[in-house]
Amino acid sequence: MCGIVGYVGLRPALPILVNSLQRLEYRGYDSCGIALCGGHLEVFKDTGRIGDLSSQLTSNGYSMGIGHTRWATHGKPSQANAHPHTDCSGRIAVVHNGVIDNYLELRTQLIREGHTFRSETDSEVIAHLVEKHHEGSLESAVAAALAEVKGSYAIIVVAADCQYMVVARHENPLIIGVGYRENLVASDVPAVLDYTNKVIYLEDGDLATESRNTVKVSSGGKEQKRNCDHIPWSIEEAQKGGYEHFMLKEIHEQPKAITETLRGYLSHVEPQVNLGIEVPAGIDDVLLLACGSSYHATLIGKQVFEALTGMPTRVEMASEFIHASPVLRRTWVIAVTQSGETADTLMAIKKAKMLGGKTLAVTNVVGSSITRIADQCFYTRAGPEISVAATKTFTTQLIALYLLALAWPDVGAKFKSTIVQDLGRLASKVQRLLNDESEIAQQGETLAAFDNVLFVGRGINYPVALEGALKLKEISYIHAEGYAAGELKHGPFALLTPRTPVVAVAALDNTRESFLANIREIKARESPLLAIADERDTEINKYVDCVVRVPGVEPLLTPVINTVALQLLAYFAAWKRGCEIDLPRNLAKSVTVP
Ligand code: G6P
Repeated sequence: MCGIVGYVGLRPALPILVNSLQRLEYRGYDSCGIALCGGHLEVFKDTGRIGDLSSQLTSNGYSMGIGHTRWATHGKPSQANAHPHTDCSGRIAVVHNGVIDNYLELRTQLIREGHTFRSETDSEVIAHLVEKHHEGSLESAVAAALAEVKGSYAIIVVAADCQYMVVARHENPLIIGVGYRENLVASDVPAVLDYTNKVIYLEDGDLATESRNTVKVSSGGKEQKRNCDHIPWSIEEAQKGGYEHFMLKEIHEQPKAITETLRGYLSHVEPQVNLGIEVPAGIDDVLLLACGSSYHATLIGKQVFEALTGMPTRVEMASEFIHASPVLRRTWVIAVTQSGETADTLMAIKKAKMLGGKTLAVTNVVGSSITRIADQCFYTRAGPEISVAATKTFTTQLIALYLLALAWPDVGAKFKSTIVQDLGRLASKVQRLLNDESEIAQQGETLAAFDNVLFVGRGINYPVALEGALKLKEISYIHAEGYAAGELKHGPFALLTPRTPVVAVAALDNTRESFLANIREIKARESPLLAIADERDTEINKYVDCVVRVPGVEPLLTPVINTVALQLLAYFAAWKRGCEIDLPRNLAKSVTVP
């Protein structure tokens, strides 16, 4: 996710901006840039690391500037697409974090009015809009520009002839660092902590001006008083936003990630999903390809596709598909990979293409290898994930698959309406689950004492059981397996003892009766039984030892909420065992070898 920083004061701005940007490196980025300001503007930007960019810079005579780390969402990582972006005159510079939903409309209009664009980004429209409205103060030009913008943003704007920065936020984080005869602004606290621990958290709709000696915040044209908080964290703690591990931080980022993945695609007025992706004409079936957690997402996706679209859908592990002799006729091949770099998935999609399949990539990384192979791409916009174990990239892959199925022509209107409405509420339900994680934490710590754990589910929650087991084994090193609950009696029953706990992912759907029968069978073998169950489920506690209750959602969407609960369960088990959670032994985030 992009990071932005700004400085105005008496000291040379360049080293402060470089250091502040480096403090945001944990957010992940593919390119970066700096604009220095004082009478005129100097802009430096490129793909790659901040250290490489700054080693080429010597402009030290400036005491105001802005900086950016870009994590591509619109347009590939390139020098032209890196921020800051400037207007036509080169006297206004902008850095932006967020997504401008109506940028295509604005860009077309601005080009018609004579503006020349240099990048493919959504962000550049802001520089041109500010230029268009720049008649009086920079502050009022920014306010007028933002009035035309739909979407999310945190921005910093500077102009060559202006001695203050203008900053604004809407649905993207922005904090002001208040110093002595200097002020800073950044996406996150670590960027300012080397200079000050006094921070103002801006609110949605805030627009502020910052000069060397003053900070003035307004909202809706009226001046506002905002508290200045004292930050008691160390730099190390701050990079994880106060969380002990990136994994826990990323689990907690899921409401925001889900909102970003859905952004701009759902219309509730007349429930509709418009993705700008074309379902190839005349296809007979869908093939989903993936590895690891992404493979589990596709197993869920298969059930979603078949339930919503009626289109026959099969799933293949990419690593197996490359050795198979598949028959593809009029098949839409959808490869799902958070990194876009998994070697097996890349080989599988190339093979599918060679066999004549029309291809779509679902990935989290713009400009990754798969985006250059697939015919079309859908980006999950989860932001960078640092912990090796997939969390927010997994749940946003599910969101992508729901959206793709909903965008299909001919999905029943009533069904579509229910799912669209529930998707819109999903982020707040996940948030509610995260707000009260104490019960899950306790259950996770209890699991830490065991060597073997089974996870069971049925129907759409069977792949959730697989993902829950994978999370637990990856980060806690407890041996864990996921099973379809009905399959236990064909072998795994032999493992059930009072030393083998079973985690049962329960749902109030058409699997209910048979699932309860399976639960009773497990209980008879004296295994400790923990259920993850819908808060409306009044019966499950009769059959199990403990229940973790999760907010109720439409059955097709239960994998999202249940997976978040299982991620927490695995996290707290691993935490209790003192494991190195973010970097589990022998595992890599991006597996680029077959
Ligand atoms: C690695 C990661 C997993 C991920 C898998 C597939 O094993 O540790 O978290 O699920 O690769 O990665 P992809 O980038 O293709 O989703």
